[in-house]
Amino acid sequence: MLAIVTGASTGIGKELARCCASGGFDLLICANEPEIHDAAQEFRKLGRNVEAIEADLGTPDGVELLCHAAGNGPVSVLIANAGRGLGGAFLDEDWDGALNVIDVNISGTIYLIHLIGRQMREHQNGQILIVGSTAGFIPGSYQAVYNGTKAFLDSFSYALRDELKGTGVTVTCLSPGATDTAFFERAGMIDTALGQFEAQFDPAEVAREGYEAMRRGDAGVVSGAVNKLQAAFAGVIPRTVLAEMHRRMAEPMNNSDGQEVRNIADVEF
Ligand SMILES: NC(=O)c1ccc[n+]([C@@H]2O[C@H](COP(=O)([O-])OP(=O)(O)OC[C@H]3O[C@@H](n4cnc5c(N)ncnc54)[C@H](OP(=O)(O)O)[C@@H]3O)[C@@H](O)[C@H]2O)c1
Repeated sequence: MLAIVTGASTGIGKELARCCASGGFDLLICANEPEIHDAAQEFRKLGRNVEAIEADLGTPDGVELLCHAAGNGPVSVLIANAGRGLGGAFLDEDWDGALNVIDVNISGTIYLIHLIGRQMREHQNGQILIVGSTAGFIPGSYQAVYNGTKAFLDSFSYALRDELKGTGVTVTCLSPGATDTAFFERAGMIDTALGQFEAQFDPAEVAREGYEAMRRGDAGVVSGAVNKLQAAFAGVIPRTVLAEMHRRMAEPMNNSDGQEVRNIADVEF
């Protein structure tokens, strides 16, 4: 049984790969940086066959390289986890950075699902886990592109799941809330209330919830009781209010001159 896990070098993806290895799957793991080979070494100690691919999943070539390594499968599990964030006001962002978030989180993710999903449908067997985010339920003032990509994945996941009814292939969407990984640092969001939020979730716990939901064939899971509550509220609070709430969490606390413009103590979660 083979599981493909993208973004398995760190954070939630690494823990999802660990769940798969512990669950008896051989692994094909992928990330953009050489650290993916260290992760592979770690997982081999769990007694599984592990292949690591270094590829930029924000490009068609990178996605095809990963699929080529999978060969004709069969692939039992596909975990589309690789993703990146980007904080800041949209018009002040570097366009290439914003486009890269769309390329990795949306284009690369669904191209991979298109290729592997067809293979799964042919074998009438497979489980796909798409890592979305609670960010997908909220208009992300000061994180607008990222939240938009996660809203896309949330919608896409439920649509594909419905299309695949009766084929033996299930699709599950995992929506984590703020989780303790390198995500916020990489997104340039350390200087925000979200980036400094102390009660971030444990990536191992988030991964376990997602893995178990996928194995049961559930449609989706929001990780953590607090996030489940927030997700429920997000469905009834007006979007203008949600955007304003998000601004308070994601707007930098210092201006470009390094002067403090707000204090974390003033932010309510
Ligand atoms: N942390 C949170 O608060 C949070 C909340 C909700 C959802 N999520 C989602 O959870 C997923 C994992 O994030 P994380 O928190 O675990 O962050 P992370 O520790 O930064 O992990 C991101 C992973 O994605 C990989 N990746 C990024 N760009 C890639 C590319 N172009 N090609 C291949 N691999 C790429 C990274 O590999 P390299 O280092 O090699 O680039 C890394 O393995 C993401 O989809 C994120 O949006 C995170």
